[in-house]
Amino acid sequence: MKVITIANRKGGTGKTTTAYNLAFSLALKEKKVCLLDLDTQSNLSLISKVNPISIDSFKNCEIKHINKYIDILPSSKEFNILENEINNMIDRNLYLKNDLLPKIKNFNDYDYLLIDTSPSFNILNINAFCISDIVLIIINSDFFSVSGLNEIINVIKQVQEINHKLDYKIVLNNFVKNRKYFESLNPILDNIKNYTDIRIPSRQAFIDNSSLYKATIDIDDVATQFDKICEVIL
Ligand SMILES: Nc1ncnc2c1ncn2[C@@H]1O[C@H](COP(=O)(O)OP(=O)(O)OP(=O)(O)O)[C@@H](O)[C@H]1O
Ligand SMILES: [Mg+2]
Repeated sequence: MKVITIANRKGGTGKTTTAYNLAFSLALKEKKVCLLDLDTQSNLSLISKVNPISIDSFKNCEIKHINKYIDILPSSKEFNILENEINNMIDRNLYLKNDLLPKIKNFNDYDYLLIDTSPSFNILNINAFCISDIVLIIINSDFFSVSGLNEIINVIKQVQEINHKLDYKIVLNNFVKNRKYFESLNPILDNIKNYTDIRIPSRQAFIDNSSLYKATIDIDDVATQFDKICEVIL
């Protein structure tokens, strides 16, 4: 069982889109995936055709079934209540590890726990880093995305002192081929440790399919990139 958290403090870089499509990409390889939606925006739950749940249902791990290979613990609109509770705990970084995960039924039957996070460093997200093997940082091919990387890498480095197995990888999403990008950002990215060279292309299908509750991995050059992510998290 591997725990993968998908993160970036910057909003709208494609975290949820990556989490959802990665689940389907892993399912194609007959891997069992449990999705965990830690964002009150509930985008991952909604795209999975599941409604947000009450905070008690979340704390009791009321998992919903998506298909043969994919389940989800949906998010709650009341995460603020839970965050207050966690902030008052002594082991405030370890709520997910000590309280939530042990309640997931047949947890060891899953090959992957894929966690989608909100664009922040709130206590739930830090908890996710504390149980993860890998944080996939989803960035876009723009200057602001790249310049914000240091901040999240520093947070990950701090968590590594608690969670020694934690590693991170950087994935580029919404990639548009253009000369300016190669000239300005490529040399910078090449110098950043843990940049994977994975580039999920920009495709209208991602936007259209989200309202159809569909994955987008039937497009060849998209599938190839998700296959590469599967290899990275193997
Ligand atoms: N590769 C892509 N090509 C085209 N559109 C994309 C791509 N990836 C994501 N999008 C679109 O960009 C928007 C934002 O994506 P998404 O919701 O996955 O980002 P996010 O990082 O989860 O956002 P938030 O920080 O608010 O949680 C969505 O409309 C999504 O369909
Ligand atoms: Mg999201």
